[in-house]
Parts: sequence; C-alpha cells; structure tokens
Amino acid sequence: MMMCVAAVLVSCSTSTAPKHTCTQVSVLRANGSDGVLWLPVQESMGEANIRILADNNQLEFIRVRLAKDSIDYFVPYELSRWGGRDLVIEFRTWLPDTVRRDKMVCWEAIRITNDELKITNDDSPYRSLYHQTPAYGWMNDPNGMYYDEASGLWHLYYQHNPYGAMWGNMHWAHSTSRDLLHWEHQPIAIRPTALGTIFSGSCDIDRNNTAGFGENAVVALFTSDGESQKQAIAYSLDGGQTFTHYAGNPVLTDTIADFRDPKVFRDTITNRWVMALACQQEVRFYASENLKDWTYLSRFGEGYGCHDGVWECPDLIKVQSDKGQGTKESKWVLLVNINPGGPFGGSATQYFVGDWDGKEFKCENSKCENGQKTKWLDYGKDHYATVTWHNAPDNRVVAIGWMSNWQYANQLPTLPFRSQNTIARDLSLYIDDAGEYRVAVKPSPESMALRGEVVNNLPDAAVVELTLDGKQDALITLANDKGEKVVMTLDVHRQTFSMDRTAAGDCSFSPDFAAVTTAPLFVKRDMYHVTLFIDHCSIEAFDGEGAWAMTNLVFPSEPYNRLDVQGGEAKIYNIR
Ligand code: FRU
Repeated sequence: MMMCVAAVLVSCSTSTAPKHTCTQVSVLRANGSDGVLWLPVQESMGEANIRILADNNQLEFIRVRLAKDSIDYFVPYELSRWGGRDLVIEFRTWLPDTVRRDKMVCWEAIRITNDELKITNDDSPYRSLYHQTPAYGWMNDPNGMYYDEASGLWHLYYQHNPYGAMWGNMHWAHSTSRDLLHWEHQPIAIRPTALGTIFSGSCDIDRNNTAGFGENAVVALFTSDGESQKQAIAYSLDGGQTFTHYAGNPVLTDTIADFRDPKVFRDTITNRWVMALACQQEVRFYASENLKDWTYLSRFGEGYGCHDGVWECPDLIKVQSDKGQGTKESKWVLLVNINPGGPFGGSATQYFVGDWDGKEFKCENSKCENGQKTKWLDYGKDHYATVTWHNAPDNRVVAIGWMSNWQYANQLPTLPFRSQNTIARDLSLYIDDAGEYRVAVKPSPESMALRGEVVNNLPDAAVVELTLDGKQDALITLANDKGEKVVMTLDVHRQTFSMDRTAAGDCSFSPDFAAVTTAPLFVKRDMYHVTLFIDHCSIEAFDGEGAWAMTNLVFPSEPYNRLDVQGGEAKIYNIR
C-alpha cells in the first residue's frame, strides 16, 4: 500500500534517481533550497545508513528502511533545513551480494518536492480522536513534560522517529495543548548529535538561572545514546520551541550499560536540583546546584518490587491523600517503569510509596524478593513509560503514559504512524482494605470534560459511566456487527475487574497481543462506578474512586456499535 504521510503536493515533484557508486553505495546530489526529499520505506527491510554531506563534511546521519520490493509509505527529509547549501546524500544499504540493488524499488520512487513540509494527520481508522498521537512516524515515551503558567500551555515532548513508523533515530518531538485533549504538532525540538540519539528525559524551567543559560530558560536533561549512555543537557530560550545543546555535554557518565532517563526536579527540602536515574535494576539519585555538575546521593531498588526486566523512566513525586481538603497528608511515590516483567507480559509501571528526605528514598513496605507485592499503576497491557508534568496547576500530579507495550509496539496495524499516549490522569493517595497506601489513578478533570451529550447508541469514540451492583457479578460487552467483542467482568467473589480482548479484532500481528487483564478491586463496596474511555483503538477503564486503572489497545475491523451491560447500568456520552 502506498501512503503519503503529510499533505504535500506530490504532483509537482521531481523524480531523482541516485547514482550507484559501488555494490552497496548510492549517491544523490541535491540542494538545501530543493524542499523535501521523500524516502520510500519497506518495514520488513533492514535499516540503510544515510549520510547528508556538505563541503565534504557530514551534517547528519540517519537510518531508513529503504524499500526493496514494495513501498509501505514515504517519510519526508527536510532538505530545506540546510539552507541553500549543495548537498550530497549517500545511501548505504546492506543487501547480500546476490541481490541486484539497482533493482530496489526505492531508487525510482525517491522524490523531491519543492514544498514546505506541512504536517497533517492522515485519516487512518485507528487514529485516536482525543489521544495524543504523532502525525506520522514512530512515538514512544512521553518526555520533558512541563506546564507553563505564563502561556497556559502543557508541553509534551516524546521519543520520535521521523524517518519510519518503527523505533529508531530517536529525536524529541513536541506537542502542546491548552486542555490536555487537543494537541498541536510543533516542530521537532531536539535532534541527535554526535554524542548520540536523544533518549528519554525531563525538562524544567530554570527560574533562578542556576545553569546560567538565561532567565527562565527551559532546560532539558536526557540520555545521549551513542557509544555509551550518558546524560546531556539542551536549553531553550524561546519557551520550549527550539533547543541548543550545551557545549559541555555530557554532564553525567558511568560505566554501566543501562544508565538513562533522567527525571530532574527542584527539591524544596534541600533547595537544589535532584535527578532520579534508571540504572539497570535500581534508581540512583544525584544532586546539583547548576544542572551541570552532579553528585551521587543514594540508590533504591534492591529487593523491592519487580526485577524481571530493566528499570526505566523513573519519577519521584509528592502525592496528596485523597481524604479530602484540609487533611494535608502526603507521601513520596517513586514511579518505576519496567520492561519486561509487567503483570501480563512486557512493559508496565510499578511504584513504591515512602518518604524522601532530600537524599534518600525509603519505601514504607518491606522488601519482597518474589515481586508478589508489586504495586502496579495500571492493570492493562498498554501503559508504559508513565511520568508526570512539572509545575501542574494547584499542586496537582498529572501523569501520562505511552499507550503501548514493547512486546508488539513495532508491529501495531496503524500505519503510517505508531503509538498514542493515554489520557491525562491525576494521581493521589488512598488506603486499601488491607490498610496499605496506594496511588489512586483518576482521569484528569480535563479528560472528564470530554463527556458531551448522553446518547442511546454507542458512537465510535465515547465515555461510558457504568454503575455496577456490588452484590452480583457484572458482564459488560462491547461488540460490532463483525462479531468482534471486548468482554469486561466484575467478579464480586474474586473481587476483580477483567478485560478480555482475545476476540476484540485484529490480534494477528503478535502472539503476545490477545490477552485477558485483571485488576484486584482493592476496596470492597456496595456499588462500583467504572468509567470507560473508548477511542478508535483503545479502552481505558477506571474505578470511580481511582482504586485501579486498566489500559488496553484494541483493533476492531469496524467500530464497536453495541454495549450490553448485565448486572448494572450504563450512561453513554458522546465526545464533546
Ligand atoms: C523506555 C525506553 C527508555 C529509553 C527510550 C528509548 O521505553 O527504553 O528507557 O530512554 O525508551 O527510546
């Protein structure tokens, strides 16, 4: 299938067959004023190395799965970024000698269009209506989120491959929103350097100019993934739009292999910056006065929680109790994403409740080597890399997660883009029936504002409020005319809520996709309220009091148009 990823007039394009200079290398000459170079991708191919050169020097290096037999889609490369310079573009493919590389379909299909790149969403049936998605290409972890009260903008950066809808070429792409529902695509914020591609990290406004980059500079700390993983800085003096790499990078190195995803926050206990960093299967804490010089403080992890995978994307947050206004009770919570090792296979977010004294995090639960006591922030299969916004209004703790799972993220049937983030969720604290503190996960007020009018028939995207009788089991079925269905069960005897997506639609792209996920209810009640957020390829279920949340992707061949509830009642809202 041929797909173009952005609204650009291909009609005024020029065909541009490169010259083959040896069995593996082809060269194309272009000029920066030429516009956009469209590269044909075939996802089943290996990555070709592409170097952009000017004046005999390398300007950029990217990897693209250039099409050999057929074209899945095109990706744009903006030549115009290099002004009026003469460019040499060198393509290095890795085909066996027996393959006639001059027969690769990509050479005839490569185009240059003399347009500005206008990014618009495609109309893929699985494009979410109200979840944040990349316009095209690949997305994983949300990064560097901060709220800017001066402009009223929620900034969201994310791991992005602009040159394919599979993981690779990590950049920080950028979206902004005024309501956490409508997201505007912004230009790419941080591009790779010779130190490495740009892995996950965080941003904050440096209000006291501690780093010396300038008044209210937005400082991003991230992992440069090159020959090794190391922490680096870039700063923005235009409100988070464009970033300059700090000349003194890297700012923190180590000899271990998995050393990444810095979450940096202003610690009010010691009045300095603190970094939580994922290091193999623990979180290390570092402190700094100026964001550039970092001192090791402490580590947390051994013997706590789940260790069946690598720890990634940590976040240390102060979370308020749910007991109502005025109680002021709060605890420190350490979010730690882990892959693999999730409760239903692959990726998931665990957390620890405890205390932070400016130097050390102490978990209030005892150690548990077998992981049985692991606390999960979400009991679905598609909730990962969850971190929170800095500076959210009213001291709120607002979180967002990548709505996918490394088990099959690269295979999802949503071309020409892949991945979407969850709706925004507010985190607070509650005590479960066993007397344990847990994190309550509730749709943010902004997400609840999605509810439009109450309707009788299920639209293709909806919010559904269920009221379920706590004395009998409930069965909730979403179905379409193709016989595809998602079955949710409230089991009052076992005290669980489950979601079965084994017959939900397309599960063929990965043996790990078909699954039943189950959450303990944690608090026994006479009546249960459950809210479902249904979008074109996802279902997020929330306990009405935030006791548990469950996020799962689904790929029905046509939207579910029927809702059947046994053992309760449903109110269906269309999307405002
Ligand atoms: C988590 C992760 C991070 C890393 C990033 C790379 O999904 O593996 O640890 O920084 O993705 O894209």
